[in-house]
Amino acid sequence: MGKEKDFKRYTVTAALPYANGPKHIGHLAGAYIPSDVYVRYLRLKNKDVVFVCGSDEHGTAIPNQALKENTTSRAIIDKYHALIRDCLYKLGISFDIYHRTSEPIHHQTSQEFFLNLFNKGLLTEETSEQYYDDEANVFLADRYIVGTCPKCGHTNAYGDQCEKCGSSLSPSELINPKSTLTGKVPVLRPTKHWYLPLENYETWLREWILDEHKSDWKVNVYGQCKSWIEAGLQPRAMTRDLDWGIKVPLPDAEGKVLYVWFDAPIGYISATRALFQEMATSKHNFATPQRDFGKVEEGDWKKYWQSEDSKLVHFIGKDNIVFHCIIFPIMLHSSGQYIVPDNVPANEFMNLEGDKMSTSRGWSIEMHEYIEDFPDKPDVLRYTLLTNLPETKDSEFTWKDFQAKNNSELVAIFGNFINRALVLTHKYFDGKIPQRTELDVLDKATIEALAKFPGKIGQSIESYKFREATANLMDLARLGNKYLADTEPWKLAKTDMKRVGTILNIALQVAANLAIVVEPFLPFSADKLKKMLNYEGKDWSLAGSADLLKEGHQLNKPELLFEKIEDEVIEKQVNRLLENKKRVEAQNQPATPTKPEISFDDFSKMDMRIGKVLSAERIEKSKKLLKLQVDTGIDKRTVLSGIAEHYAPEDIIGKQVTILVNLAPRKIMGIESQGMILMAEDKDGALKLIHTGDPVSPGSTIS
Ligand code: MF3
Ligand code: ZN
Repeated sequence: MGKEKDFKRYTVTAALPYANGPKHIGHLAGAYIPSDVYVRYLRLKNKDVVFVCGSDEHGTAIPNQALKENTTSRAIIDKYHALIRDCLYKLGISFDIYHRTSEPIHHQTSQEFFLNLFNKGLLTEETSEQYYDDEANVFLADRYIVGTCPKCGHTNAYGDQCEKCGSSLSPSELINPKSTLTGKVPVLRPTKHWYLPLENYETWLREWILDEHKSDWKVNVYGQCKSWIEAGLQPRAMTRDLDWGIKVPLPDAEGKVLYVWFDAPIGYISATRALFQEMATSKHNFATPQRDFGKVEEGDWKKYWQSEDSKLVHFIGKDNIVFHCIIFPIMLHSSGQYIVPDNVPANEFMNLEGDKMSTSRGWSIEMHEYIEDFPDKPDVLRYTLLTNLPETKDSEFTWKDFQAKNNSELVAIFGNFINRALVLTHKYFDGKIPQRTELDVLDKATIEALAKFPGKIGQSIESYKFREATANLMDLARLGNKYLADTEPWKLAKTDMKRVGTILNIALQVAANLAIVVEPFLPFSADKLKKMLNYEGKDWSLAGSADLLKEGHQLNKPELLFEKIEDEVIEKQVNRLLENKKRVEAQNQPATPTKPEISFDDFSKMDMRIGKVLSAERIEKSKKLLKLQVDTGIDKRTVLSGIAEHYAPEDIIGKQVTILVNLAPRKIMGIESQGMILMAEDKDGALKLIHTGDPVSPGSTIS
């Protein structure tokens, strides 16, 4: 059983997000918010801590996205690296560095790491048969092979997984495999790779995780590790045939790169290395040191990774557990140079309004969307996520709950308390901390209760129970709010100013305590509060005291910490979510099946021309129809078209359209329509005019 070790410093990591798309609030709840609370708390305790993160820019996820967006892998990582980084900083995630795995220092660190294991003889070389696309001339990553699932018969299963039944597969199990690159049947070809024999470390893993960390690792994490170990560990390839990634640093490894799960976690190390390099040379490209590291040298990063008195903690989501608890630790341990994590407090998933959160299914709240819609409310999101963290099981975000947490907790309890205490002090004492005189029973009880909070909150944070810590925090605000509600100083002002002074003094001490302990959770509000209190509040060890603000200390003008969120705002968000989902579903719908075959003669009976819209007007009593005057080149005629819901008259005047000119005339709403404008109907029902990109003179025939 692990005895509490005495650590000198902390190395805290948060999972490197793939730079292949925007990230949603579930990612925040999984890794970034909890790690940030933890680190901010440690900084307030004056601990030596480094907090690293960055973009994961390798793996097939990147070229996949490039294919989808019809651009290069480089363009993809540049775009999403910047987007994700900016969002995380705007939400207050206080990394000392947000690095990138595409940086040279990371390539170098990863290759050195690989070579060290290779030179120690810890990697095994093996040649196996893998699927190859001989038209595209590449070995196919699992994701690039589709076929029929052997378990459920789904015809579009991937080489590594069937998304219909959830089974994990290997490409060789697929029935009728096809390359997604060319549609061709792939062939098996021998290829050489380097493997990490995980099974050699079973004894070590059993001791290190199953014995030593039985009581301090979370049940969900420990359980997953145990089942992995008990299922029997297998050698795992640490290299891939791919043209995007870090080159395997061996002479006979042409066209091969390091496995993304080999290089990505090393990203934590290279980020730390880059941080110290940049601090030592005052070149801050990626570094944003959040505390004073003092005078540092480039090599100081080693203390955080290679010294037994450093505590390494990985914050991740549950889908990353095996990599951070089994594979990466084996890499670290076998290297003979690195420490292994002391804890990996992985979270489960956060659902959204009753369904799984998923960017690709349109059912998600992306970080950048939230920031756009609520630019001044990062803390409201932080708070709602903190109260709902999926710490022991999957949890749920709803917009109603978001509104309730804001209105009835942040506004009604925390904000109300602070506002009352400050406004009253300005009203009765010119904003100066009044004198505290005799204490009654309630005063004493309040001061006593106050003293216990920082310890309790800190203990919850140190044991990675951030929901509990957040609840304790709100209880402290509640203590202050209730104290004012019970003592009603505004009623005593006429009769007993001395008593009012005592009450407000105590209330303001609670407020100053809040200013300190709220910082890890709601850093933006903490800053505002500290400004109002004219108080620095940077030392957690002072919290608990009822003497933080001295008598006569001058406060600044109060402003509102939080504001009410109205029903309309919430409804708008819910509607957008539903619309997004509809849009994505429509996009993913298969195209309508083709109509029965026709002969060339049938086709050539149609006389289609290019025309030009001369005028357009709405038709009274019709929502759908526009009345158009069209120059067909042959004549100028009237055509009715059902596009009024998709185009305003002024949008289409002068536009070139495609028109069927020999359609029998029809009377609609009393007007004769002489022909038909051709349109495309999108999957979501939107109508679009069909027109050639280049201008063509009216009357040109289409065939
Ligand atoms: N990019 C991975 C994901 O989003 C996480 C990588 S974490 C690291 O699931 F340790 F590998 F960096
Ligand atoms: Zn299946």
